[in-house]
Amino acid sequence: MTEPRKFPHHLVREIFEQPDALRRTIEPRVSLTEGRVHLDNIRISRDELRSLRRINIVASGTSRHAGMTGQYMMQQLAAVPVDVDYASEFEYRNPMIGHGELSVFITQSGETADTTAAQREARQKGSRTLAITNVEGSTVAREADGFIYTDAGPEISIASTKAFTAQMACLFLFALYLGEIKQNVSQQLAQSYIAELLALPEKTETILSASDQVEQLAELYYRVDDFMFLGRAIHYPIAMDGALKLKEVSYIHAEGYPTGEAKHGPNALIDFRLPLVMIATCDRNDAGSVLRYEKNVSNMQGFKKQGGTVIALATEGDAVIPELADYTIFIPQAPELLSPILEIVPLQLFAYYVAAKRGLDVDRPRNLVKAVTLE
Ligand code: F6R
Repeated sequence: MTEPRKFPHHLVREIFEQPDALRRTIEPRVSLTEGRVHLDNIRISRDELRSLRRINIVASGTSRHAGMTGQYMMQQLAAVPVDVDYASEFEYRNPMIGHGELSVFITQSGETADTTAAQREARQKGSRTLAITNVEGSTVAREADGFIYTDAGPEISIASTKAFTAQMACLFLFALYLGEIKQNVSQQLAQSYIAELLALPEKTETILSASDQVEQLAELYYRVDDFMFLGRAIHYPIAMDGALKLKEVSYIHAEGYPTGEAKHGPNALIDFRLPLVMIATCDRNDAGSVLRYEKNVSNMQGFKKQGGTVIALATEGDAVIPELADYTIFIPQAPELLSPILEIVPLQLFAYYVAAKRGLDVDRPRNLVKAVTLE
């Protein structure tokens, strides 16, 4: 019997637990032969779900980044308009929500005060509520109409990693479930997506098996003071989360920006001192993804002309991006809507190795707590 691998910190152990966390979250809820998703605790009738006018996703921090990917998933698969809010801003914008709508609250801990307060407000306004949480029996799960547990296992390190990928998997499952109810997703399409979902844990293992390359990259960059992370469309929230992980565990200033926004201001910052992490993956079977990829290539050419240093995330087999970038991390091919679940993994590893090389307390960064129970 092989000894279980020992890790020096909870954070890196939790990053490496992601293949198993994804298996637990996905496998019991899908049937490949039927092309069906089974979600037992939604507790909102199919009729009501079919006629939803709008979905509001509300969350904080990393959970909100998951929600931003969920917006793309639900709009595409279920053809329903989706808004995403910061839980901490929810009450201030007089959210015009009510009957015929669903509000989805995503929270690892299930106890984030901003999120539970927003959930109470949504209920009071007549919206149906759905909680996506990692903690059974937590406040958000108890107070919602329905819930989906992420099943990532306890997350001890303050920075959220395995809960994040499990949240995105749950959001995709819910989008597929809703798409089927709304007859927007054929059985054949559902089957192909389920096969892709089931392949995610192994693809995550492939990424983790190349962790030493990410560690070498961290060795090159751990003394740098500023980073910019860029991503388009569903990859933008991954740029945001890559930046958030780096800032919270390594105390390095990092910004996440939509790639196309760089020319509206941040371009002025770009020179050899500011490494850019660009998410430039491509789903060759998706016309929209190919179009975005081509724009990324042309943006990258521009950044190189400005003297920028580019660390790129590219899809395995891509020969163009590695020619342009200073360093390329390869991601296994996946559908556009599922690729974010893979892309975040090397960015989590990067944040971890940089923080560890800086000698910081990676599991308990200063001034942060695991569950923010005060508003
Ligand atoms: C970042 C991080 C935080 C949390 C946020 C919400 O790594 O962990 O941004 O995501 O505080 O926490 P939950 O998901 O428990 O509501």
